[in-house]
Amino acid sequence: MDKIKIIGGKKLNGKIYISGAKNAALPLICASLLTDETVTLTNMPMLSDITAMNALLAELGTQIDSFDDFVDEHPTKTYSYRTPKFKSLVAPYDFVRKMRASYYVLGPLLAREGHIELSLPGGCAIGARPMDIHLSALEQMGAKIEIKNGYVHADVDGRLKGAHIIFRIASVGATCNILMAATLAEGTTTIENAAKEPEIGDLIDLLNAMGAKISGKDTSILTIEGVDKLHGARHKVIADRIEAGSYAVAAAITRGNIELINAQAATLQTPLNILRSMGVTVEEKENSLIIDAQDRELEGKDIMTDFYPGFPTDLQAQFLALMLTAKGASMVTETIFENRFMHIPELLRMGANINVHGHASAIVRGVDKLYGAPVMATDLRASFALILAGLIAEGETIVNRVYHLDRGYEHLEQKLKGVGADIERIKEPD
Ligand code: UD1
Repeated sequence: MDKIKIIGGKKLNGKIYISGAKNAALPLICASLLTDETVTLTNMPMLSDITAMNALLAELGTQIDSFDDFVDEHPTKTYSYRTPKFKSLVAPYDFVRKMRASYYVLGPLLAREGHIELSLPGGCAIGARPMDIHLSALEQMGAKIEIKNGYVHADVDGRLKGAHIIFRIASVGATCNILMAATLAEGTTTIENAAKEPEIGDLIDLLNAMGAKISGKDTSILTIEGVDKLHGARHKVIADRIEAGSYAVAAAITRGNIELINAQAATLQTPLNILRSMGVTVEEKENSLIIDAQDRELEGKDIMTDFYPGFPTDLQAQFLALMLTAKGASMVTETIFENRFMHIPELLRMGANINVHGHASAIVRGVDKLYGAPVMATDLRASFALILAGLIAEGETIVNRVYHLDRGYEHLEQKLKGVGADIERIKEPD
Protein backbone atom coordinates (compact mmCIF):
# COMPACT_ATOMS: atom_id res chain seq x y z
CA MET A 1 0.00 0.00 0.00
CA ASP A 2 1.43 3.36 -1.07
CA LYS A 3 1.86 6.28 1.29
CA ILE A 4 2.11 10.02 0.75
CA LYS A 5 4.85 12.02 2.42
CA ILE A 6 4.45 15.76 2.88
CA ILE A 7 6.79 18.30 4.40
CA GLY A 8 4.55 21.14 5.49
CA GLY A 9 5.05 24.88 5.32
CA LYS A 10 5.04 25.72 1.60
CA LYS A 11 2.66 28.40 0.30
CA LEU A 12 0.98 27.05 -2.82
CA ASN A 13 0.99 29.22 -5.94
CA GLY A 14 0.12 28.48 -9.56
CA LYS A 15 -2.51 26.69 -11.62
CA ILE A 16 -4.29 23.37 -11.19
CA TYR A 17 -6.42 21.75 -13.91
CA ILE A 18 -9.68 20.42 -12.47
CA SER A 19 -10.56 16.98 -13.83
CA GLY A 20 -13.91 15.58 -14.94
CA ALA A 21 -16.23 14.78 -12.02
CA LYS A 22 -16.03 11.26 -10.60
CA ASN A 23 -19.58 11.42 -9.26
CA ALA A 24 -20.88 12.50 -12.67
CA ALA A 25 -18.82 9.96 -14.61
CA LEU A 26 -20.03 6.92 -12.61
CA PRO A 27 -23.76 7.21 -13.46
CA LEU A 28 -22.89 8.39 -17.01
CA ILE A 29 -20.98 5.14 -17.59
CA CYS A 30 -24.02 3.15 -16.44
CA ALA A 31 -26.36 5.18 -18.66
CA SER A 32 -24.55 3.57 -21.61
CA LEU A 33 -26.22 0.27 -20.59
CA LEU A 34 -29.58 1.68 -21.70
CA THR A 35 -28.72 1.41 -25.41
CA ASP A 36 -27.13 -1.10 -27.80
CA GLU A 37 -25.35 1.79 -29.55
CA THR A 38 -22.05 3.48 -28.59
CA VAL A 39 -21.91 6.09 -25.83
CA THR A 40 -18.69 8.12 -25.77
CA LEU A 41 -17.63 10.06 -22.69
CA THR A 42 -14.88 12.69 -22.88
CA ASN A 43 -13.02 14.54 -20.06
CA MET A 44 -13.07 11.34 -18.01
CA PRO A 45 -10.89 11.37 -14.89
CA MET A 46 -8.27 8.62 -14.47
CA LEU A 47 -9.34 7.19 -11.11
CA SER A 48 -9.58 3.77 -9.56
CA ASP A 49 -13.38 4.16 -9.15
CA ILE A 50 -13.67 4.58 -12.93
CA THR A 51 -11.50 1.51 -13.52
CA ALA A 52 -13.69 -0.44 -11.07
CA MET A 53 -16.90 0.63 -12.82
CA ASN A 54 -15.39 -0.26 -16.20
CA ALA A 55 -14.52 -3.71 -14.87
CA LEU A 56 -18.12 -4.24 -13.75
CA LEU A 57 -19.48 -3.19 -17.14
CA ALA A 58 -17.00 -5.50 -18.89
CA GLU A 59 -18.31 -8.32 -16.67
CA LEU A 60 -21.85 -7.51 -17.84
CA GLY A 61 -20.76 -7.66 -21.49
CA THR A 62 -19.92 -4.05 -22.41
CA GLN A 63 -17.22 -3.45 -25.01
CA ILE A 64 -15.04 -0.60 -23.76
CA ASP A 65 -12.43 1.37 -25.67
CA SER A 66 -10.24 4.07 -24.20
CA PHE A 67 -8.30 6.83 -25.92
CA ASP A 68 -5.83 9.41 -24.68
CA ASP A 69 -7.33 12.80 -25.31
CA PHE A 70 -6.91 16.51 -24.49
CA VAL A 71 -9.35 19.01 -23.06
CA ASP A 72 -8.07 22.60 -23.03
CA GLU A 73 -4.56 21.21 -23.64
CA HIS A 74 -4.77 18.96 -20.55
CA PRO A 75 -4.39 15.20 -20.99
CA THR A 76 -7.61 13.31 -20.23
CA LYS A 77 -9.26 10.04 -21.21
CA THR A 78 -12.11 9.40 -23.58
CA TYR A 79 -14.00 6.13 -23.14
CA SER A 80 -16.54 4.56 -25.46
CA TYR A 81 -19.05 1.99 -24.22
CA ARG A 82 -21.12 -0.38 -26.33
CA THR A 83 -23.39 -3.12 -25.02
CA PRO A 84 -25.15 -4.82 -27.97
CA LYS A 85 -26.19 -7.65 -25.65
CA PHE A 86 -25.55 -8.66 -22.06
CA LYS A 87 -23.26 -11.51 -21.01
CA SER A 88 -24.52 -11.42 -17.42
CA LEU A 89 -27.25 -9.66 -15.42
CA VAL A 90 -25.48 -10.09 -12.10
CA ALA A 91 -23.52 -7.37 -10.29
CA PRO A 92 -21.44 -9.57 -7.94
CA TYR A 93 -20.47 -8.90 -4.34
CA ASP A 94 -16.78 -8.49 -5.16
CA PHE A 95 -17.50 -5.49 -7.41
CA VAL A 96 -20.13 -3.81 -5.24
CA ARG A 97 -18.06 -4.31 -2.08
CA LYS A 98 -15.21 -2.36 -3.68
CA MET A 99 -17.40 0.44 -4.94
CA ARG A 100 -20.92 1.31 -3.76
CA ALA A 101 -21.71 3.24 -6.93
CA SER A 102 -21.89 -0.17 -8.68
CA TYR A 103 -25.57 0.05 -7.76
CA TYR A 104 -26.04 2.43 -10.72
CA VAL A 105 -26.39 -0.65 -12.95
CA LEU A 106 -29.71 -1.44 -11.22
CA GLY A 107 -31.98 1.04 -13.03
CA PRO A 108 -30.52 0.53 -16.53
CA LEU A 109 -30.50 -3.30 -16.44
CA LEU A 110 -34.01 -3.55 -15.07
CA ALA A 111 -35.29 -1.07 -17.66
CA ARG A 112 -33.57 -2.73 -20.63
CA GLU A 113 -33.58 -6.44 -19.68
CA GLY A 114 -36.31 -6.74 -17.02
CA HIS A 115 -33.98 -8.54 -14.60
CA ILE A 116 -30.95 -7.90 -12.40
CA GLU A 117 -29.23 -9.45 -9.42
CA LEU A 118 -27.27 -6.86 -7.48
CA SER A 119 -25.25 -7.52 -4.37
CA LEU A 120 -26.48 -5.18 -1.62
CA PRO A 121 -23.66 -2.72 -0.88
CA GLY A 122 -24.03 -2.73 2.90
CA GLY A 123 -22.69 0.08 5.08
CA CYS A 124 -19.42 1.92 4.62
CA ALA A 125 -17.01 4.01 6.66
CA ILE A 126 -19.22 7.11 6.62
CA GLY A 127 -22.60 5.54 7.44
CA ALA A 128 -25.23 2.83 6.94
CA ARG A 129 -26.26 4.10 3.49
CA PRO A 130 -29.34 1.95 2.78
CA MET A 131 -30.97 1.57 -0.68
CA ASP A 132 -34.61 1.60 0.39
CA ILE A 133 -35.48 4.70 -1.66
CA HIS A 134 -34.12 3.15 -4.90
CA LEU A 135 -35.96 -0.13 -4.28
CA SER A 136 -39.29 1.32 -3.20
CA ALA A 137 -39.38 3.58 -6.28
CA LEU A 138 -38.71 0.61 -8.59
CA GLU A 139 -41.52 -1.32 -6.87
CA GLN A 140 -43.84 1.62 -7.52
CA MET A 141 -42.83 1.26 -11.19
CA GLY A 142 -43.95 -2.38 -11.22
CA ALA A 143 -40.73 -4.22 -10.30
CA LYS A 144 -40.82 -7.29 -8.05
CA ILE A 145 -37.97 -7.04 -5.55
CA GLU A 146 -36.69 -9.80 -3.31
CA ILE A 147 -33.62 -9.84 -1.09
CA LYS A 148 -31.93 -13.25 -1.04
CA ASN A 149 -28.44 -14.17 0.20
CA GLY A 150 -27.32 -10.55 0.30
CA TYR A 151 -28.52 -9.87 -3.24
CA VAL A 152 -31.37 -7.76 -4.56
CA HIS A 153 -33.27 -9.81 -7.17
CA ALA A 154 -35.34 -7.40 -9.26
CA ASP A 155 -37.70 -8.48 -12.05
CA VAL A 156 -40.34 -6.86 -14.17
CA ASP A 157 -42.88 -8.41 -16.53
CA GLY A 158 -42.51 -6.50 -19.78
CA ARG A 159 -41.62 -2.84 -19.23
CA LEU A 160 -41.42 -0.76 -16.08
CA LYS A 161 -44.46 1.51 -15.73
CA GLY A 162 -44.36 5.28 -15.21
CA ALA A 163 -45.29 6.31 -11.66
CA HIS A 164 -45.56 9.34 -9.39
CA ILE A 165 -42.74 8.90 -6.90
CA ILE A 166 -42.05 11.03 -3.83
CA PHE A 167 -38.60 10.53 -2.33
CA ARG A 168 -38.39 10.53 1.46
CA ILE A 169 -34.86 12.05 1.16
CA ALA A 170 -33.42 13.87 -1.88
CA SER A 171 -30.99 11.02 -2.53
CA VAL A 172 -28.42 11.53 -5.28
CA GLY A 173 -28.06 7.82 -6.00
CA ALA A 174 -31.80 7.12 -6.06
CA THR A 175 -32.43 10.12 -8.33
CA CYS A 176 -29.85 8.81 -10.85
CA ASN A 177 -31.10 5.23 -10.70
CA ILE A 178 -34.78 6.12 -11.11
CA LEU A 179 -34.05 8.68 -13.85
CA MET A 180 -32.25 5.97 -15.85
CA ALA A 181 -34.95 3.36 -15.19
CA ALA A 182 -37.76 5.74 -16.16
CA THR A 183 -36.28 6.67 -19.55
CA LEU A 184 -37.39 3.28 -21.01
CA ALA A 185 -40.56 2.85 -18.91
CA GLU A 186 -44.05 2.82 -20.35
CA GLY A 187 -45.70 6.20 -19.67
CA THR A 188 -44.60 9.17 -17.61
CA THR A 189 -42.69 9.12 -14.32
CA THR A 190 -42.55 12.08 -11.95
CA ILE A 191 -39.95 12.25 -9.19
CA GLU A 192 -40.76 14.68 -6.38
CA ASN A 193 -38.04 15.73 -3.93
CA ALA A 194 -35.38 14.72 -6.48
CA ALA A 195 -31.75 15.63 -5.74
CA LYS A 196 -30.52 18.74 -7.61
CA GLU A 197 -26.76 18.14 -7.52
CA PRO A 198 -24.98 19.28 -10.75
CA GLU A 199 -23.97 15.66 -11.46
CA ILE A 200 -27.68 14.88 -11.93
CA GLY A 201 -27.99 17.70 -14.46
CA ASP A 202 -25.05 16.15 -16.31
CA LEU A 203 -26.78 12.76 -16.37
CA ILE A 204 -30.00 14.38 -17.66
CA ASP A 205 -28.01 16.07 -20.46
CA LEU A 206 -26.54 12.72 -21.57
CA LEU A 207 -29.87 10.86 -21.32
CA ASN A 208 -31.65 13.56 -23.35
CA ALA A 209 -28.84 13.44 -25.93
CA MET A 210 -29.54 9.66 -26.14
CA GLY A 211 -33.20 10.37 -26.97
CA ALA A 212 -34.77 10.44 -23.48
CA LYS A 213 -37.48 12.98 -22.66
CA ILE A 214 -36.64 14.46 -19.27
CA SER A 215 -37.71 17.90 -18.05
CA GLY A 216 -37.20 19.76 -14.78
CA LYS A 217 -33.37 19.75 -14.79
CA ASP A 218 -31.90 21.56 -11.72
CA THR A 219 -35.28 21.47 -9.94
CA SER A 220 -36.65 19.04 -7.35
CA ILE A 221 -39.44 17.79 -9.64
CA LEU A 222 -38.30 15.73 -12.60
CA THR A 223 -40.64 14.45 -15.31
CA ILE A 224 -39.57 11.58 -17.53
CA GLU A 225 -41.70 10.57 -20.51
CA GLY A 226 -40.70 6.99 -21.30
CA VAL A 227 -39.47 6.15 -24.83
CA ASP A 228 -39.17 2.76 -26.61
CA LYS A 229 -35.45 2.97 -27.33
CA LEU A 230 -32.41 5.12 -26.66
CA HIS A 231 -29.50 5.67 -29.04
CA GLY A 232 -25.78 6.42 -28.78
CA ALA A 233 -24.36 9.86 -27.94
CA ARG A 234 -21.13 11.71 -27.15
CA HIS A 235 -20.85 13.74 -23.95
CA LYS A 236 -18.25 15.77 -22.05
CA VAL A 237 -18.18 15.11 -18.30
CA ILE A 238 -18.58 18.26 -16.14
CA ALA A 239 -15.72 19.53 -13.98
CA ASP A 240 -15.36 18.00 -10.53
CA ARG A 241 -16.74 20.57 -8.04
CA ILE A 242 -15.46 18.57 -5.07
CA GLU A 243 -11.92 18.38 -6.45
CA ALA A 244 -12.10 22.14 -7.19
CA GLY A 245 -13.36 22.85 -3.67
CA SER A 246 -10.59 20.68 -2.19
CA TYR A 247 -7.82 22.59 -4.02
CA ALA A 248 -9.51 25.90 -3.17
CA VAL A 249 -8.98 24.91 0.47
CA ALA A 250 -5.35 23.95 -0.32
CA ALA A 251 -4.80 27.53 -1.55
CA ALA A 252 -6.56 29.03 1.48
CA ILE A 253 -4.98 26.85 4.17
CA THR A 254 -1.44 27.55 2.91
CA ARG A 255 -2.29 31.25 2.43
CA GLY A 256 -1.40 30.83 -1.22
CA ASN A 257 -2.90 31.74 -4.59
CA ILE A 258 -4.16 29.08 -7.00
CA GLU A 259 -6.07 29.36 -10.26
CA LEU A 260 -8.38 26.37 -10.71
CA ILE A 261 -8.62 25.90 -14.46
CA ASN A 262 -11.93 24.46 -15.71
CA ALA A 263 -13.63 24.86 -12.28
CA GLN A 264 -17.26 25.92 -12.57
CA ALA A 265 -18.00 28.59 -9.95
CA ALA A 266 -21.78 28.20 -10.38
CA THR A 267 -21.59 24.71 -8.84
CA LEU A 268 -19.62 25.89 -5.77
CA GLN A 269 -21.45 28.99 -4.56
CA THR A 270 -22.02 27.95 -0.93
CA PRO A 271 -18.41 26.86 -0.20
CA LEU A 272 -17.02 29.89 -2.08
CA ASN A 273 -19.16 32.20 0.05
CA ILE A 274 -17.73 30.57 3.18
CA LEU A 275 -14.21 31.22 1.87
CA ARG A 276 -15.09 34.85 1.16
CA SER A 277 -16.59 35.32 4.62
CA MET A 278 -13.34 33.96 6.11
CA GLY A 279 -11.32 36.62 4.31
CA VAL A 280 -10.22 34.78 1.14
CA THR A 281 -10.51 36.59 -2.20
CA VAL A 282 -12.36 34.47 -4.76
CA GLU A 283 -12.37 35.65 -8.36
CA GLU A 284 -14.83 33.89 -10.66
CA LYS A 285 -13.75 33.77 -14.28
CA GLU A 286 -15.56 32.16 -17.20
CA ASN A 287 -13.56 28.96 -17.15
CA SER A 288 -11.59 29.20 -13.93
CA LEU A 289 -11.57 30.36 -10.34
CA ILE A 290 -8.78 32.23 -8.58
CA ILE A 291 -8.41 31.62 -4.86
CA ASP A 292 -6.16 34.16 -3.13
CA ALA A 293 -5.37 33.98 0.57
CA GLN A 294 -1.88 35.54 0.51
CA ASP A 295 -0.96 37.52 3.62
CA ARG A 296 -4.41 37.01 5.18
CA GLU A 297 -5.45 36.16 8.65
CA LEU A 298 -8.50 33.96 8.11
CA GLU A 299 -11.48 33.99 10.43
CA GLY A 300 -13.18 30.72 11.41
CA LYS A 301 -16.79 30.28 10.25
CA ASP A 302 -19.56 27.80 10.98
CA ILE A 303 -20.51 25.27 8.33
CA MET A 304 -23.42 22.87 8.12
CA THR A 305 -23.74 20.29 5.36
CA ASP A 306 -26.96 20.11 3.36
CA PHE A 307 -28.38 18.92 0.05
CA TYR A 308 -27.31 20.93 -3.02
CA PRO A 309 -27.15 23.92 -3.29
CA GLY A 310 -26.30 23.73 0.43
CA PHE A 311 -22.79 23.01 1.72
CA PRO A 312 -21.62 19.63 0.28
CA THR A 313 -20.91 16.84 2.76
CA ASP A 314 -18.03 15.87 0.43
CA LEU A 315 -16.24 19.13 1.35
CA GLN A 316 -16.94 19.00 5.10
CA ALA A 317 -13.67 17.32 6.08
CA GLN A 318 -11.57 19.70 3.96
CA PHE A 319 -13.26 22.83 5.35
CA LEU A 320 -12.94 21.49 8.87
CA ALA A 321 -9.19 21.25 8.21
CA LEU A 322 -9.21 24.85 7.00
CA MET A 323 -10.76 26.00 10.29
CA LEU A 324 -7.91 24.40 12.30
CA THR A 325 -5.63 27.43 12.01
CA ALA A 326 -8.29 30.11 11.42
CA LYS A 327 -8.97 32.73 14.09
CA GLY A 328 -11.65 31.95 16.68
CA ALA A 329 -14.10 29.07 16.90
CA SER A 330 -16.02 27.33 14.11
CA MET A 331 -18.88 24.91 14.49
CA VAL A 332 -18.96 22.16 11.86
CA THR A 333 -22.24 20.24 11.58
CA GLU A 334 -22.74 17.13 9.43
CA THR A 335 -26.37 16.39 8.54
CA ILE A 336 -26.14 13.95 5.61
CA PHE A 337 -24.10 11.01 6.94
CA GLU A 338 -24.01 9.73 10.50
CA ASN A 339 -20.32 8.84 10.76
CA ARG A 340 -18.36 11.47 8.91
CA PHE A 341 -15.91 12.76 11.52
CA MET A 342 -13.35 9.97 11.23
CA HIS A 343 -10.64 12.48 10.30
CA ILE A 344 -10.95 14.27 13.66
CA PRO A 345 -9.03 11.80 15.88
CA GLU A 346 -6.15 11.92 13.38
CA LEU A 347 -6.20 15.74 13.25
CA LEU A 348 -6.06 15.79 17.07
CA ARG A 349 -2.84 13.80 16.81
CA MET A 350 -1.45 16.65 14.71
CA GLY A 351 -2.18 19.22 17.43
CA ALA A 352 -5.68 20.38 16.43
CA ASN A 353 -8.14 21.68 19.02
CA ILE A 354 -11.52 20.06 18.25
CA ASN A 355 -14.38 19.05 20.51
CA VAL A 356 -16.88 16.61 19.03
CA HIS A 357 -20.48 16.81 20.26
CA GLY A 358 -22.36 13.60 19.53
CA HIS A 359 -22.16 12.35 15.92
CA ALA A 360 -23.15 15.55 14.20
CA SER A 361 -21.27 18.59 15.53
CA ALA A 362 -17.71 19.59 16.21
CA ILE A 363 -16.26 22.83 17.56
CA VAL A 364 -12.89 23.73 16.09
CA ARG A 365 -10.80 26.32 17.88
CA GLY A 366 -7.97 27.80 15.85
CA VAL A 367 -4.41 26.92 16.91
CA ASP A 368 -1.15 28.59 15.85
CA LYS A 369 0.47 25.46 14.56
CA LEU A 370 -0.04 21.81 13.56
CA TYR A 371 2.67 19.15 13.81
CA GLY A 372 3.40 16.47 11.21
CA ALA A 373 2.56 12.85 12.13
CA PRO A 374 1.85 9.48 10.52
CA VAL A 375 -1.94 9.45 9.92
CA MET A 376 -4.60 7.53 8.06
CA ALA A 377 -8.26 7.97 7.23
CA THR A 378 -11.06 5.62 6.39
CA ASP A 379 -12.58 7.47 3.45
CA LEU A 380 -11.72 9.55 0.44
CA ARG A 381 -12.52 13.10 1.56
CA ALA A 382 -11.23 12.56 5.10
CA SER A 383 -7.92 11.46 3.56
CA PHE A 384 -7.71 14.74 1.64
CA ALA A 385 -8.33 16.64 4.90
CA LEU A 386 -5.20 14.93 6.28
CA ILE A 387 -3.22 15.99 3.20
CA LEU A 388 -4.38 19.58 3.83
CA ALA A 389 -3.30 19.45 7.47
CA GLY A 390 0.04 17.98 6.33
CA LEU A 391 0.58 20.92 3.96
CA ILE A 392 0.70 23.39 6.90
CA ALA A 393 2.06 21.13 9.63
CA GLU A 394 5.59 21.57 10.94
CA GLY A 395 7.75 18.68 9.74
CA GLU A 396 6.80 15.44 8.04
CA THR A 397 3.33 13.96 7.65
CA ILE A 398 2.84 10.48 6.24
CA VAL A 399 -0.68 9.78 4.98
CA ASN A 400 -1.36 6.04 4.87
CA ARG A 401 -4.08 4.18 2.94
CA VAL A 402 -3.53 6.21 -0.21
CA TYR A 403 -5.92 3.97 -2.14
CA HIS A 404 -8.77 6.11 -0.77
CA LEU A 405 -7.26 9.18 -2.46
CA ASP A 406 -6.69 7.29 -5.71
CA ARG A 407 -10.44 6.66 -5.88
CA GLY A 408 -11.23 10.34 -6.28
CA TYR A 409 -8.22 12.62 -6.85
CA GLU A 410 -6.57 12.33 -10.25
CA HIS A 411 -2.76 12.92 -10.22
CA LEU A 412 -2.93 14.27 -6.68
CA GLU A 413 0.80 14.54 -5.98
CA GLN A 414 1.58 15.93 -9.45
CA LYS A 415 -1.09 18.60 -9.08
CA LEU A 416 0.08 19.66 -5.63
CA LYS A 417 3.76 19.48 -6.59
CA GLY A 418 2.96 21.69 -9.60
CA VAL A 419 1.89 24.51 -7.25
CA GLY A 420 4.90 24.15 -4.95
CA ALA A 421 3.98 21.51 -2.35
CA ASP A 422 6.74 19.29 -0.96
CA ILE A 423 4.91 16.01 -1.51
CA GLU A 424 5.80 12.56 -2.78
CA ARG A 425 4.32 9.11 -3.06
CA ILE A 426 6.20 6.34 -1.36
CA LYS A 427 5.63 3.13 -3.31
CA GLU A 428 5.33 0.02 -1.19
CA PRO A 429 5.55 -3.45 -2.68
CA ASP A 430 2.07 -5.15 -2.84
C1 UD1 B 1 -23.65 10.56 -3.37
C2 UD1 B 1 -22.19 10.77 -3.66
C3 UD1 B 1 -21.43 11.03 -2.36
C4 UD1 B 1 -22.06 12.18 -1.60
C5 UD1 B 1 -23.56 11.96 -1.42
C6 UD1 B 1 -24.26 13.16 -0.80
C7 UD1 B 1 -21.74 9.46 -5.64
C8 UD1 B 1 -21.11 8.23 -6.22
N1 UD1 B 1 -21.64 9.58 -4.31
O1 UD1 B 1 -23.75 9.39 -2.55
O2 UD1 B 1 -20.07 11.34 -2.69
O3 UD1 B 1 -21.46 12.31 -0.33
O4 UD1 B 1 -24.17 11.70 -2.71
O5 UD1 B 1 -24.08 14.30 -1.59
O6 UD1 B 1 -22.26 10.30 -6.33
N2 UD1 B 1 -30.34 7.29 1.92
C9 UD1 B 1 -31.30 6.45 2.45
N3 UD1 B 1 -31.90 5.52 1.62
C10 UD1 B 1 -31.59 5.44 0.28
C11 UD1 B 1 -30.61 6.32 -0.25
C12 UD1 B 1 -30.01 7.24 0.59
O7 UD1 B 1 -31.61 6.50 3.65
O8 UD1 B 1 -32.17 4.59 -0.41
C13 UD1 B 1 -29.68 8.28 2.80
C14 UD1 B 1 -28.16 8.04 2.93
O9 UD1 B 1 -27.85 7.07 3.90
C15 UD1 B 1 -27.67 9.44 3.29
C16 UD1 B 1 -28.63 10.38 2.52
O10 UD1 B 1 -29.76 9.56 2.20
O11 UD1 B 1 -27.83 9.66 4.66
C17 UD1 B 1 -28.07 10.93 1.22
O12 UD1 B 1 -27.53 9.85 0.46
P1 UD1 B 1 -27.41 9.88 -1.13
O13 UD1 B 1 -27.74 11.26 -1.62
O14 UD1 B 1 -28.17 8.74 -1.69
O15 UD1 B 1 -25.86 9.63 -1.32
P2 UD1 B 1 -25.16 8.67 -2.39
O16 UD1 B 1 -25.89 8.75 -3.68
O17 UD1 B 1 -24.90 7.37 -1.76
